[in-house]
Amino acid sequence: MQTDFLVIGSGIAGLTYALKVAQDCPDKTVTILTKTQSDETNTKYAQGGIAGVMDADNDSFEKHIEDTLVAGDGLCNRHVVEIVVKEGVERIREIIAWGAQFDKEPDGDFKLGKEGGHSEYRILHHKDVTGMEMERALLAAIKRRPNIRLISHCFVLDIITQHHLGYLVTKSTPDIECYGVYVLDLSTNKIEKILAGTTMLASGGNGQVYRTTTNPAIATGDGVSMVYRAKGRIENMEFIQFHPTALYEPGVRGQSFLITEAVRGDGGILRNQNGEAFMERYDPRKDLAPRDIVARAIDNEMKVAGTEHVFLDCRHFSREKFIEHFPNIYEKCLSIGVDISKDMIPVAPAAHYSCGGIKTDEWGRTSIKNLYAAGECASTGLHGANRLASNSLLEAMVFAHRAYLDTMAQSNTGSLSREKNRNELIPDWNASGTSSPREMILITQSVKELKLLMSDYVGIVRNNERLLRANRRLDLLHEETEALYERTAVSPQLCELRNMITVAYLIVKGASFRHESRGLHYNTDFPEKSPILQNTIL
Ligand code: FAD
Ligand code: SIN
Repeated sequence: MQTDFLVIGSGIAGLTYALKVAQDCPDKTVTILTKTQSDETNTKYAQGGIAGVMDADNDSFEKHIEDTLVAGDGLCNRHVVEIVVKEGVERIREIIAWGAQFDKEPDGDFKLGKEGGHSEYRILHHKDVTGMEMERALLAAIKRRPNIRLISHCFVLDIITQHHLGYLVTKSTPDIECYGVYVLDLSTNKIEKILAGTTMLASGGNGQVYRTTTNPAIATGDGVSMVYRAKGRIENMEFIQFHPTALYEPGVRGQSFLITEAVRGDGGILRNQNGEAFMERYDPRKDLAPRDIVARAIDNEMKVAGTEHVFLDCRHFSREKFIEHFPNIYEKCLSIGVDISKDMIPVAPAAHYSCGGIKTDEWGRTSIKNLYAAGECASTGLHGANRLASNSLLEAMVFAHRAYLDTMAQSNTGSLSREKNRNELIPDWNASGTSSPREMILITQSVKELKLLMSDYVGIVRNNERLLRANRRLDLLHEETEALYERTAVSPQLCELRNMITVAYLIVKGASFRHESRGLHYNTDFPEKSPILQNTIL
C-alpha cells in the first residue's frame, strides 16, 4: 500500500495533523492507522481540560509562560514555551470551529478552571470529559474529508529506513530516512508494508509500563521504541509524571480512573488517614502545588502511615455544583459506594504522562528525515522536567499544526512516485523461522514482572541501588523476550511487551544518567539540583 501522508495514531495530535494536510492537499491521500478502535486514545480520557489564555483581563501570556517554566524546573526550552502559549489560543479557536464545545458561563464567557501550578483560571473544559469531546469533534471532522482513510485495528510494528534496504544504520548515520512502516493488520492477521512520502508519529504515551496508571491499554510507548530501534534521537525519558489523585480501588488492575486536578482547583482538600490536611506541611501552594510536589507528598504520607491511599475531601462542596462540573466522577464514585457529599474519595498517585520522548525541533521534525512526531510521544522542549497540568492537549495541537506547516513547505511533499525504484527494493516482512506462540504465559508473566519492577524501583522516588536492580532485571527480560521474538509470529501482545521493555530501559537509563533531583526525577542519593542544566539524550 502507498499513501502520500501516513499518520500513526488517532488521538489529538494525529487527527489534527491529518485534518490539516488533507484540507490543504485534497488530491493527495492521508492514511491514519490506529491499533484498536479509532477513539481509544489517551486523548479520550483527558478530564481537566486545555490551558489557554482566553481571559486577557485577568490573565496574560507572560503568566502562562512563567507557570510553565516554574513547573518545568529549569529544563523547559523558553522559546518553545512561548510558541505553545502564544499560538495555542489560535489552535483552541480552530478546534472550536471544528465543533468542540467547552463549558460557558451564562454570559457566554468560557468557564475557566484552575489546576496545580497555574496562577490563574485558564483551563477550558467540557464538564469532566474534555478529551472525549475533543476526540469526538476531531473524528467527526475527519469523516467529512474524503481523502482521509482511517484504518483501525492496524498495529504498526516498525519504521522502514535504509536499514531495511540492507545498509548499516547507526546513531551516527547521517540522513536516516523514513520510507513508511510495517504493520500487522489485525483484521487479516497479515503483515503489510505501507510506503509513505511523509510520516507523522502521534502514538501517545507509555503509562502502561507501570502497574498503576491513568493511561488506557494502548499506551505502551510503541512510537518511542520504534524510533529508538531505527536509531533516532530520544530524550528525557526519566521524567515520568505521576498524577497525584487516581481513584484507589483495591484489586483493580490496568487503567485507574482519574480524579481530575480540577477538583482540587475547585477546593478539594487532600487528607491523610488521621484526617490532617497534610499539604500545608509540604508547600505554601498546598493542594495546588505542581504535580511532582503533590505526588511526592502523598507518596511520603502513604509510606509513613503504611497505607495504600490518602483521601480527597469534597464533603464541603455543594452536591449540585459538583455534579454540574464533574458528573462523570460523581457517578463513578457512587458506583463504588463513595458518595462525595458524605465520604472522602480514596486516591493514590498513578503513572500519567511521559514528559520526554522522541526529540523534535520546533517544527515537529525528528532526527529521521520525513518523520515528524507530535503529542505525548514527542519531546519538544515544552515540559522540561515536569509538565504543567492541561498543557499537553495544547502542545499536541500546536505541534501538529507546526508539523503541517513544515510538511507543506517541503518540496518533496507526496514524493512517492519519484521514489518508485527504491520502493520496489523494500523487502516484505521476513517471518521465516517463526511459529505461533505456544504459551501466552511467557508474555503475560513478563508484562507483570516489568510493571512491578518499574513501580517498585523506578517510581516517584528512586535511588541508585533500585535503578541498578531495575537495570539487571530488565536485561533478563530483554534477553528472554528477544529470544521469543526471534522464534514467534508477531502479535500485538508480544510487540507491546518488547516496546515496553525498550521504554522501561530508556527510563532507567535516563534516570541513571541524571545525577541530581529535578522536577519529576527524585533520587535520594542525589537529592540536590545540579548547577548544570542538561537534557538526557538517548
Ligand atoms: P493519544 O491520544 O494517546 O493517541 C495515541 C494513538 O496512537 C492511538 O490512536 C493509538 O491507537 C495509536 N498507536 C499507538 N501505538 C500504535 C501502534 N503500534 N500502531 C498503531 N497505532 C498506535 N492532558 C491535558 O492537557 N489536559 C487534561 O485534562 C488531561 N487529562 C488526562 C487524563 C487522563 C486520564 C490521561 C491518561 C491523560 C490526560 N492528559 C491530559 C494527557 C493527554 O490526554 C495526552 O497527553 C494526549 O491526549 C496525548 O495525545 P496523543 O495524540 O499524543 O496520543
Ligand atoms: C487532570 O484533569 O487532572 C489531568 C490534567 C492533565 O493531565 O493535564
